[in-house]
Parts: sequence; C-alpha cells; structure tokens
Amino acid sequence: MKILITGNMGYVGPGVVDELRSKYPNATLIGYDMGYFAKCLTNVDILPENKLDQQYFGDIRDIKAELLDGVDAIVNLAAISNDPMGKKFEDITLDVNYRSGIELAKMAKNAGVRSFVFASSCSMYGAAEEKPKTEDSTLNPLTAYARSKVATEKDLAPLADESFTITCLRFATACGMSNRLRLDLVLNDFVAAAVASKKITILSDGTPWRPLINVKDMARAIDWAIGRNQDNGGAFLAVNTGSNEWNYQVKDLANAVAEVIPGVDVSINVNAEPDKRSYKVNFDLYKKLAPDHQPIRDLKTSIQELKEGLEAMSFQDEDFRNSQLMRLKVLTQLQDGSTLDDNLKWNHR
Ligand SMILES: NC(=O)c1ccc[n+]([C@@H]2O[C@H](COP(=O)([O-])OP(=O)(O)OC[C@H]3O[C@@H](n4cnc5c(N)ncnc54)[C@H](O)[C@@H]3O)[C@@H](O)[C@H]2O)c1
Repeated sequence: MKILITGNMGYVGPGVVDELRSKYPNATLIGYDMGYFAKCLTNVDILPENKLDQQYFGDIRDIKAELLDGVDAIVNLAAISNDPMGKKFEDITLDVNYRSGIELAKMAKNAGVRSFVFASSCSMYGAAEEKPKTEDSTLNPLTAYARSKVATEKDLAPLADESFTITCLRFATACGMSNRLRLDLVLNDFVAAAVASKKITILSDGTPWRPLINVKDMARAIDWAIGRNQDNGGAFLAVNTGSNEWNYQVKDLANAVAEVIPGVDVSINVNAEPDKRSYKVNFDLYKKLAPDHQPIRDLKTSIQELKEGLEAMSFQDEDFRNSQLMRLKVLTQLQDGSTLDDNLKWNHR
C-alpha cells in the first residue's frame, strides 16, 4: 500500500500521518507540501514527518505525474485553508484548492490510483436556517474558500468510476490539539483566550450554529475513506463528516470552555449583527456508512487537551491573534519579508 498525503504539514496533517502510520505500519507513506507552516511546530520532540517514508517539498500547482507511480490512495489536504486567507488570496485559493486538486485527481486516475480522498468542508452550506443540512441541501458558499470546495466537488464527481473511488469528506470545523496547532478556529481561539487572559469575548451574539470535529476524528474519517468500498456509498461520495451531537451554538462552546477552565469570564455582544455563517449539519449518512469510524472525542476532553497543550507551551500570549499560530499571519509575514512572492511561491526557487 502506498499513500500520498498532500498538505500534510498543516494543522490536520500530523494527526492523519499518525493515524495512517498506526493503521498501515507497512505502508509507504509520502508527504507533499509547500512547507508554509513547516516551522510552526507545537509541543514536539520529533518532526511529525518522521513517521513518513518520504517528504517532498513542492507546490501542488506544479506536481508531477511521476510522483504518483504505484500510489494506491491520495489524501488531498493541500489548500489555502480558511475564510480570511481565501479573502486575501482569492485567485490563489481557486488555483490551489480547486484547479490543482482537479488536475491531481485527473493525474491520479491516469496513474491507476484507486482511492482519492478530498478534504471538503461543511462551510459550503453557508447561511442560517434551523433545519440541519443534509448532503442534498442547497449549497450556499459565502466565501472564496467555500466556493473552492464546491467547485472541486462538482468537477471531481464525473471523474469517479468503478476503478477510481472518490470520497469528499465535508468536514465540520476542526478543533483540538495538533503538532501544528492553529488558533484561528473557534474553539481553539476560546481556549487560548481563556488560558492567556481568563476572558472570552464572543464577537457575535453567540447564537450562530457551528458543527465541530476533533482533528484526530478527522484522521479516523480519512482512514475510513481510503479503505471505502464502492458498495458503501458509490464511486463518488460527498458526505458530511462529524456527528449530530457536535452541533453547537458559539455561546455553548464558550460556556463549555469556562466550565473546564475555572474563573473565565464570557462576554457576548448582544448588539451584534446576526452572523450569516451559521449552519447546523445532519451527519446521519456518515453514521450509516462509517459506523466503526465515528468521532469518539467529546467536547470536554478536546478542551482539556487544548488547555494542557497550551500550558505545556507556556502559552500566555494575549495577543495571539497576531501570532504565528494564525495561518494568515504566517503567510503575510513571509510575504512581507519577501520570502514568498505575490503568488505564494517561494522566492528562493
Ligand atoms: N481546519 C478545518 O477546520 C477544516 C475543516 C474542513 C476542511 N478542512 C480542510 O482540510 C485540509 C487541511 O486543513 P488544515 O486545517 O490542516 O489546513 P492548513 O492550512 O493548516 O494546512 C494546509 C497545508 O497545505 C499546504 N499547502 C498550501 N498550499 C499548497 C500548495 N500550493 N502546494 C502544496 N501544499 C500546499 C500548506 O503548506 C499546509 O501545510 C484543507 O483542505 C482544509 O480545507 C479543514
């Protein structure tokens, strides 16, 4: 078994590498990443990439077909991966997330790759509505990032056939500790604020719904998708990935953090405009198709692990939203120092 993981050096990747290495001890695992966040390590003794057989530093926009020789499965994580980055780098977001993803899938099909797993997102459902979104609900992507995921799914669908299985995992918003922690995610932000300043300030009125999933449970889902047979979901599958119990209102997340970390003050902006990015998601299909790979972490444990991880980093930075733990800050700093060019390519190449 040979598995290629693109974008393995981000927030989600290290947990995926861990999971796949433990599930497939004899497999050849290959990483391919631009390395934007390579140095953003949190609480590690050894590089997470040590568990791979090979690590390539490269741009998915230039990936070569030779790399796919003998590959059985691809996990495509490489992306400009959140709404603020998609806003600043709109064209690059479409280029990296969508066009390059489709090119990679076409190359993979030609090379005889059996399984293609795409890290999609529930953010494609977009706007507020009470009824939880199923896979058949109307898509309403509100950002360049979400639009890139919609476009990719649409163009991936016709590529699937009886020998090329495609699984689009529409992940809930990630949370939890990672060897490359990010604080630009709602729960992680709240825990960081609680640890650094004992204060959580919710910028909205706290009512928006947000489904969440622990990064380690994302890795379990990816493992399931790699091994999925077509009689379980078809040649092409797009599936909401998370669990019904993890649909939370933002204020509930803040209160859950305050329960785990005593003495934390939670304030809500009662006068805030309604946040349009609010959606509840129905995860029944994932439960039916992947009963043995359901999320197993609970919210309290996820908060506790984040707290302990941050404390182990001696984290005290109240100004963390301007730090290297925010993806957009990392990329703009690299650009400001002329290390990355306008197109997010390394200047030294
Ligand atoms: N974190 C979430 O909440 C979440 C939720 C749903 C889906 N996803 C998806 O899961 C995947 C991984 O997310 P993440 O949180 O680890 O993101 P991340 O930004 O932490 O990591 C993405 C990785 O892709 C790499 N990359 C970016 N552009 C590249 C390029 N041109 N060539 C090669 N590598 C490139 C980056 O260097 C980085 O290591 C993404 O596709 C993301 O859209 C994430």
